[in-house]
Amino acid sequence: MTRAPLPDFYDDLDATFAALWRLLGDGAAQGRSGFHLAALATLSPDGPRLRTVVLREADAESGTLRFHCDRRSDKAAEILENPACALAAYDEASKIQIRIEGRATLHADDSVAEAAWAGSRAMSRVCYGADPAPGTALPTGDAYTLPDEETAATLGRPHFAAVMVRAERLDFLYLDRRGHRRAAWKRSPTGWSGGWIAP
Ligand SMILES: Cc1cc2nc3c(=O)[nH]c(=O)nc-3n(C[C@H](O)[C@H](O)[C@H](O)COP(=O)(O)O)c2cc1C
Repeated sequence: MTRAPLPDFYDDLDATFAALWRLLGDGAAQGRSGFHLAALATLSPDGPRLRTVVLREADAESGTLRFHCDRRSDKAAEILENPACALAAYDEASKIQIRIEGRATLHADDSVAEAAWAGSRAMSRVCYGADPAPGTALPTGDAYTLPDEETAATLGRPHFAAVMVRAERLDFLYLDRRGHRRAAWKRSPTGWSGGWIAP
C-alpha cells in the first residue's frame, strides 16, 4: 500500500511554525479550509463560553488574528470584561488542529474597525443591522428584522466590531498513523519559543 508523502513540516519545527501561520492565513482567505471557522472561547461570569466565528485575518508577523462580531453580543461584553480568549480549529483535509490562546481587543471606532468594515461584504453587513440586539429574548422565532444591504451600510456600522487576538500560546497537532506530531510555542518579549511535545 502506498502512502501519501509526509508533509514538508514533519520533524521540522521551524517549518511547522511557518505551516501553522500559512494554514491560518489560508483559512482566513478560503471558505473551504477547516481553518475558516474557529471555535472561540471567552470567559463569562458563569464560566467558559464557546461559539463559532469566521477567521478574517491571520498575520504571522505580528502573531495576531482577526474576527468580527456585533458589539451588542455577549462575546463582545465578555472580551471587554476579560480579554483572555482561545481559538481552536481542525482542518480535516490536512489532519491538523491549531489551538491559540491570547488576548483580545475590541475595535469599534478606530482605524482597525474602519478598515475591517470597509473590507467586509454588503451581505455580511446585514446582520449588524439586526433589531433587536443579538441575544434578546423574542416572543416568536421570527420577531426580529434585518435591514437590506444598502441600509445596512449605515445602520450596521455602529454595531460592528473587529476583534484582534494577540496570540500568546500556540499548539499544533498533526495526525498521521506513522506518528502524530505536536508542537507548542509561547510568546516572550524576545519572540516565540517552542518545541515538540507528546501528542
Ligand atoms: C458558521 C458560523 C459562522 C459564524 N461566524 C460568526 C462570526 O464571525 N462572528 C460572530 O460574532 N458570530 C458568528 N457566528 C455566530 C456565533 O457562533 C454565535 O452564535 C453568536 O455570535 C452569538 O454568540 P455570543 O452570544 O457568544 O456573542 C457564526 C456562527 C456560525 C454557525
